[in-house]
Amino acid sequence: MNSILIAGASSGIGAALARNYASSGAHLCLLGRNAERLAGVAVEVAERGADCEQAVADILDEPALRDAISGYDSRHPVDLAFINAGIFDGRKEGEHLEDLETSLRVIDNNLRGALNTLHAILPAMRTRGSGHIVFVSSLAGLTPLGCALGYSASKSAIVSYALGLKQVLHGSGIRITVVCPGFIETPLASQHLGWQPFKITADKAARKIMRGIASRRAIVAFPFILHALARPSILVPDVVRRAVGKAFACAAGADMRIAGSDMSGIAARAPARRNRLFHRSHARIKACAFFA
Ligand SMILES: NC(=O)c1ccc[n+]([C@@H]2O[C@H](COP(=O)([O-])OP(=O)(O)OC[C@H]3O[C@@H](n4cnc5c(N)ncnc54)[C@H](OP(=O)(O)O)[C@@H]3O)[C@@H](O)[C@H]2O)c1
Repeated sequence: MNSILIAGASSGIGAALARNYASSGAHLCLLGRNAERLAGVAVEVAERGADCEQAVADILDEPALRDAISGYDSRHPVDLAFINAGIFDGRKEGEHLEDLETSLRVIDNNLRGALNTLHAILPAMRTRGSGHIVFVSSLAGLTPLGCALGYSASKSAIVSYALGLKQVLHGSGIRITVVCPGFIETPLASQHLGWQPFKITADKAARKIMRGIASRRAIVAFPFILHALARPSILVPDVVRRAVGKAFACAAGADMRIAGSDMSGIAARAPARRNRLFHRSHARIKACAFFA
């Protein structure tokens, strides 16, 4: 591997991928909006012995993104590209339904941003007849979270788009992988105020993703137990889907983190509520399994 592009490298999973690939000998392009955070990750990468460039770009600004990525690709032809940048938001405390603005903003950022990134790198890979593109979706793309409708829809669309693209590019020399993680300790996950079972660190997630890529898997999903529950969710009776959905009931705490506004109530109540919901839902799932 000579050159790796990571979109969304300034934080969380993207930053962890950068740190973990730093010892691979590849040149890295770290892309994100926040120049200060990108510079911090670049220092960590350099300490691990890798050369890297920082590309400060918004994935929604298509011309600037295309210039940044094609400029980098002309200096360091990209072998592996992570389409990882994303945001999380959803229903706020007291809301029954996520508002329209939130749904559209999240879908736009996560889906249009992903497609802008793809189309900034794909032509060069097609010309070379080689390359590997990794879309970072989510288990929420396999089973929707009622509390984060736009987020789940954006991640579902990414799974669908990536698997369709994989068919189209078959035989072209370009590989496609779609990653569906569960809960990972990152700033994004801290905005999801609800039960987050089997949460792992971003570094552990990065290593799982790297192993999945090295073994050329089309879908890299983890943890196993949540993936096993999420995968058949379209097929199970609605009563099971609702019970699982209630166990993962949450609210989005972006306002609490960013504006310091009043989301503290739901955060404080979350553990007790989560446990009550878990015990109720767990009993329902067991009952459904018994009668199924
Ligand atoms: N954490 C989880 O539990 C979890 C679970 C499943 C899937 N995922 C997915 O994993 C990916 C990474 O998330 P994370 O948890 O690592 O979150 P994070 O720590 O908040 O990092 C998100 C990254 O995306 C970048 N980004 C977002 N919107 C962007 C935009 N418009 N233009 C450029 N960069 C943008 C951010 O850059 P800035 O610094 O510029 O903001 C940041 O580098 C996301 O696609 C997320 O949906 C996360």
